Amino acid sequence: MTAGQTFDTESLIIAKRDGEPLSGPAIDWFIAGYTDGTIPDYQAAAMLMAVYFNGLNGEELARWTSAMIDSGHRYDLGDLGRPLVDKHSTGGVGDKISLILCPLVAACGAIMPQVAGRGLGHTGGTLDKLEAIHGWNPSVPPEKFRDILADVGGIIAAASQDLAPADRKLYALRDVTGTVASIPLIASSIMSKKIASGTTSLVLDVKVGAGAFMRNLDDARVLANTMVEIGNRSGVNTVALLTAMDHPLGRLVGNTLEVEESIEVLHGGGPPDIIELVVALARDMLTLVGIDVDPADVLASGAAVPVWEAMISAQGGDLSVPMPRSEHTDVVVATESGWVSGLDALAVGQASARLGAGRARKEDSIDLGAGIECLAKPGDPITRGEPILRLHSDRPDTFSSAAELLANAISYSPEAPEPPPLILDRVTR
Ligand code: URA
Repeated sequence: MTAGQTFDTESLIIAKRDGEPLSGPAIDWFIAGYTDGTIPDYQAAAMLMAVYFNGLNGEELARWTSAMIDSGHRYDLGDLGRPLVDKHSTGGVGDKISLILCPLVAACGAIMPQVAGRGLGHTGGTLDKLEAIHGWNPSVPPEKFRDILADVGGIIAAASQDLAPADRKLYALRDVTGTVASIPLIASSIMSKKIASGTTSLVLDVKVGAGAFMRNLDDARVLANTMVEIGNRSGVNTVALLTAMDHPLGRLVGNTLEVEESIEVLHGGGPPDIIELVVALARDMLTLVGIDVDPADVLASGAAVPVWEAMISAQGGDLSVPMPRSEHTDVVVATESGWVSGLDALAVGQASARLGAGRARKEDSIDLGAGIECLAKPGDPITRGEPILRLHSDRPDTFSSAAELLANAISYSPEAPEPPPLILDRVTR
């Protein structure tokens, strides 16, 4: 922004309301003014609604994102001696991919600095999952963050207060003003945090389907293209995979349950969909940074296990202590015989949250042991009366309302269904 240049906030709102593009200095001024409190919530809310309806063009979006990055500190991790690469998922049900991917790409020779978040609504959060491990601490001061990366090659931690603080304020405002579901606002929110956290290459996993933010492929493609463009314009080598989120990833949904499934995959077992997605994302990440190693071989060899153990213990986690388990279980049984043809990810995510594994509001506490085991998934044969889902909770009074949410979540077919593709498309610059 030109030193001393000021703008009239109302005029900027009117301009955006009427579909006119905002200048770069005006965007810098607006984001800085909202972050430091000189622009009040009511004017920022009006601007967000104007952006919701009229969007931001490529130039405005790049400037909006860089103003959000500049509202805090952009980390420089370029002196760690190994290539940096991160992954971001737009969120789904049973998505524990980062827990496996981070030690895997580190075992392959890259550095993965992941700043992760908490779950809200039907999707889980990576930090909540890791907190099922006794003693694990998500808050890592910047010097220690760097030391862990240098020693171990991977870290998953909470964002520090100075990472894109504009996003923290804007996201909270969007949440209560009906302006979350805007592609430029989602894209700038995600990318400002990823770029500020210091990575120089990034693979995005944009989820599509019933359990995702983006319900159809066209919207997901627009979001992916928008984020890929922002990343590359900002000097971060970015590609995106569009992946299916119609049913849960893997067989376990919930915090302890998902850590257990991740450990199983790191030890060479686990469900095929998790392995397929981890390997596909790792291949793209390694290709971006020029490492010619097959992550499928590294995963199968168990070489990521010591990296995982080192990552967890560097943040105080003790894997020898049993993780929290819910006291009570119940089952949902199949109502037909044949094959399972569908298992609605949104219903499973909502039911898991209802059992205690997720939050309806940011301030809610969660039950780390709660969740759902998918005993059968689409493509599996089933007999009427056989258990299909096992529910875990400390509060047995939640079983009936979770079961109600799941009543129409399962579909059946008399013949074995064709397995639907998991990886739907790839978006590059
Ligand atoms: N995740 C984010 O970080 N921001 C959004 O706007 C949506 C999802």
